[in-house]
Amino acid sequence: MHRSKIVAGNWKMNKTLNEGIDFIKILKESIPELRITKAIVGMPFIHLASAGPYLNGSFSIAAQNCHHEAQGAYTGEISASMIQSAGAEYVILGHSERRQYFKEDDDLILKKVKAVLSHSLTPIFCCGEPLDIREDDTHIQYVNKQLENSIFHLSNEEIQKVIIAYEPIWAIGTGKTASSAQAQEMHKEIRLSLADNFTLAIANEIKILYGGSCTPANAADLFSQKDVDGGLIGGASLKTNDFLELIRIAEASI
Ligand code: 13P
Repeated sequence: MHRSKIVAGNWKMNKTLNEGIDFIKILKESIPELRITKAIVGMPFIHLASAGPYLNGSFSIAAQNCHHEAQGAYTGEISASMIQSAGAEYVILGHSERRQYFKEDDDLILKKVKAVLSHSLTPIFCCGEPLDIREDDTHIQYVNKQLENSIFHLSNEEIQKVIIAYEPIWAIGTGKTASSAQAQEMHKEIRLSLADNFTLAIANEIKILYGGSCTPANAADLFSQKDVDGGLIGGASLKTNDFLELIRIAEASI
């Protein structure tokens, strides 16, 4: 099974509008067209509309969150149709920072996934265990529960449009990457669960990204794992050189 790679940046709450657009211009100039990798930049909402004109077929932009309702009296929130109208194609959902700081649970995240899908956007659904669960050796059960409680409620047609990002919380922003064997173990388990809940063909098509202190120093090893289809990158996506290098590594790892 040959899946193409994705390198998705998640800027989180970083970069002013000018800094963001400068970054996108450099990306476009440095890699005009990618053969087999898709590069995605997950940026703050207010950057999306301005970034659109600088993108080409190899680069897309993502929002980092979305409200689950279509519209209405939700002061300060952003809907899927607004995100789509700004030119984004992807939305990062269920990130552990949203789960932790904004109390998003599996139910709510499923609603957000459905809202995003109904506007022809692609959700990048995040899952992953905290350190104590990893130390208890119950990480596989924990992640399976996150999936069962949310995206496993989607139809066969819907799940095929989802990208999954496995991001162990203990590896996010800590400099402590999961080993390639730890990443491969979990990605394989996620794929097995997808096959159990949907079909083997669907499981083999879905892209599963790794996230958590992924840098140019460890990406070649991670991206070469059978079930790792690229990365969701935080810190290293803020530096053009690192992000470009990660894209080059993904292109070379097919
Ligand atoms: P870091 O790459 O900074 O560990 O962040 C990972 C992440 O949270 C991407 O969504």
